[in-house]
Amino acid sequence: VPGFTAHAAPQKVDIVAHRGASGYAPENTMAAFEKAVKMKADFVEVDVQMSKDGELVLIHDVTVDRTTDGSGHVADLTYQQLRKLDAGSWFGSEFTGERIPTLDELLDKYRGKTGLLIELKAPWLYPGIEEKVAEALKKRNMHKPKNGKIIVQSFDFQSMKTFHQLLPQIPVGLLIYLPQDLTDEALIKHSHYASYVNPSLNLVNKDLVNKVHTYGMKIQSWTVRNPEQVQPLLDAGVDGIITDFPDYVPRNLKRK
Ligand code: G3P
Ligand code: CA
Repeated sequence: VPGFTAHAAPQKVDIVAHRGASGYAPENTMAAFEKAVKMKADFVEVDVQMSKDGELVLIHDVTVDRTTDGSGHVADLTYQQLRKLDAGSWFGSEFTGERIPTLDELLDKYRGKTGLLIELKAPWLYPGIEEKVAEALKKRNMHKPKNGKIIVQSFDFQSMKTFHQLLPQIPVGLLIYLPQDLTDEALIKHSHYASYVNPSLNLVNKDLVNKVHTYGMKIQSWTVRNPEQVQPLLDAGVDGIITDFPDYVPRNLKRK
């Protein structure tokens, strides 16, 4: 395998398709999730926000402008308004007609078929979103997964504390981009409720991975968009690689 150094012991690493296989299909659409599953990603990562009338929808930006043919804030649009938007043509004409999916659709379609890394995006804009996501999982009896294949993550630590209290058996992850959130002191605090520390890839090294493991947590890193970014993360020993291109991670290292 190109880029695989002979001296490195084979390791298990989860391949996480970022917003679905978003290098190949429009992010956070069924087309991207389907592609990720076909590519045998271990997890599909999605971003959850809430429509004006309380529907949980999958979209990354807090406005619809970049990834649809509409404009405005997700929070100001009803589900009916959001559903009319085309979420595929911006990426390529063959994806015309892709819609903004709901969390319900994702859970119904993929439960048991792939791991799900569910990000609560800007949860401070959507009071009560933690309860709603917890309800969606509970309703389907997905709140006590035995295989750890459902993870909820956010940049908002308080939101993850809340979520952990609501559904203690769902592992929560903290998305981190500041070194100050990776000190020993910070990691100890995180370990009181978080199962994953998920930093931006420029912050990752072997030392950090060892520390995160010492404090009883796992580490997934983001966002690989270039094949050269893979090997340093494997060398550092991360548990998961979050990437737009699931095929950039050598298959023989995949977690079974
Ligand atoms: O899963 C990690 C990654 O999704 C965090 O950044 O902006 O792509 O949601 P962003
Ligand atoms: Ca995300």
